[in-house]
Amino acid sequence: MTISDVEQSHALRLDGKHVSKAILAEVGQELATCWKGQPPKLVVLLVGNDPASEVYVSHKMKASQKLGMTSETRRLPATISEHELLDRLDSLNHDPDVHAILVQLPLPGHINSQRVLEAIDPRKDVDGFHPLNMGQLLTGIEPVALPCTPAGMVRLLDYYDLSVAGKHAVVVGRSNIVGKPISLMLLHRHATVTICHSRTPDLPHLLSQADVVVAAIGRPNYVQADWVKPGAVVLDVGINRMEDGSLCGDVEKAVVHRASAVTPVPGGVGPMTIAMLMVNTMRLAQAQQGQTVKPWLMT
Ligand code: GUN
Repeated sequence: MTISDVEQSHALRLDGKHVSKAILAEVGQELATCWKGQPPKLVVLLVGNDPASEVYVSHKMKASQKLGMTSETRRLPATISEHELLDRLDSLNHDPDVHAILVQLPLPGHINSQRVLEAIDPRKDVDGFHPLNMGQLLTGIEPVALPCTPAGMVRLLDYYDLSVAGKHAVVVGRSNIVGKPISLMLLHRHATVTICHSRTPDLPHLLSQADVVVAAIGRPNYVQADWVKPGAVVLDVGINRMEDGSLCGDVEKAVVHRASAVTPVPGGVGPMTIAMLMVNTMRLAQAQQGQTVKPWLMT
């Protein structure tokens, strides 16, 4: 099935909840059959008490515990110094029981996030944000762990057999967490990629040419449904909490009447991020045990 084959009046729902369950079941299976010794251990550093981060981290803990992995959240005060945080990372880097380290972002303003991410041992970098791992992604060498949210989006496309080869993908947002890595991943999968951001003039015009849209701006309903080309595949990364408590994406919901396939919010990209974190934790642990870890993105 190609993207143009799936044009229909109501978009195919790219069901991240369903696909993430399938991926988590595979991880559980692999741990049961191929893993020896202490379960893989993930440590998350949570600095301060950003409410969204609290929710994300609790999902991460639940998923890992369900798989029988060891996971731990280390809560640190928002006032922690960068130096102290770097010290904490140094001891985790040297702890042979810890396979995977994640520093939940965003960090308080007085801490230089890039310096912190660079301080994680690249072999334990479960987010794939270390410059060495990001550099590998850039140059076409697949790191053991790829950034979770973009990796989850590609796995979702793979599950539904949606090939992006030769398609025009327009990525809205240029963050290191989503926009840049998803652009590289789509490029590796042979898409023609345009990266847009707040200073891009005439976004509607660019989106009218997009076969694949990635919306990762963090603004509710920013992308209007009628900007999207009929039949496009829309991956909505936005998880915006509205005043009434509901969640909404970066793309207007009405896009389901225009696109051929859409990720719902919630239940699309979000659960895939968690599943890929589990995949990454297992892969890092396997690599640290000397097992061969097969590439999946750049095959
Ligand atoms: N904050 C929002 N998304 C992410 C992510 O994928 N990893 C980390 N570490 N922090 C985040």
